[in-house]
Amino acid sequence: MKSIDTKKIRKAMEKVQDESRYEHTLGVTYTATALAMRYGCDLRSAEIAGLLHDCAKCMDNAKKIQICEKHNIPVNDVERKNPSLLHAKAGSFIAMDTYGITDTDIINAILNHTTGRPNMSLLEKIVYVADYIEPNRTKAPNLSEIRKIAFIDINEALLMILSDTLTYLTAGGGDIDPMTQKAYEYYKAKIEEQKEE
Ligand SMILES: [Fe+2]
Ligand SMILES: [Fe+2]
Repeated sequence: MKSIDTKKIRKAMEKVQDESRYEHTLGVTYTATALAMRYGCDLRSAEIAGLLHDCAKCMDNAKKIQICEKHNIPVNDVERKNPSLLHAKAGSFIAMDTYGITDTDIINAILNHTTGRPNMSLLEKIVYVADYIEPNRTKAPNLSEIRKIAFIDINEALLMILSDTLTYLTAGGGDIDPMTQKAYEYYKAKIEEQKEE
């Protein structure tokens, strides 16, 4: 992992992403790095995962499906209907294949940044939360509260984001990826357990 040149990755993202996606990428990168400082996570891993988390976002949908099918990455019904969701799976592959990332924690942080999952690693939580709270985000509800809590208790922030995401998807009649529901239930139970102790 020592040979990874983050400046090169940043320049590559500027090329493959549109302007607002690139600004979002930079926002996620420095927010993830700040969270890594707060929680004692590897700063470089947070930087690399932040830079690459949306590396497949601006690719067209057919290409995302093609990458997954070609490399035996399973595509579920929700993803087939909304191929944009596949940018996480396709992106984790591109991070390995094009950008030479071998660290499985970074790959998992890219892979799970849209849905979350039960029992996430610290880096996965950091990228998931940074993706939601980075300064260019303005539309989500409770943002100022979540931003504050993110630096106090990352599990609590994670649960708030999962909960708001499920509420948003349900209200909009959107499809819910079963993994988001599973992640929500896992962290809800975990936080309740902690409060009982
Ligand atoms: Fe994304
Ligand atoms: Fe993102």
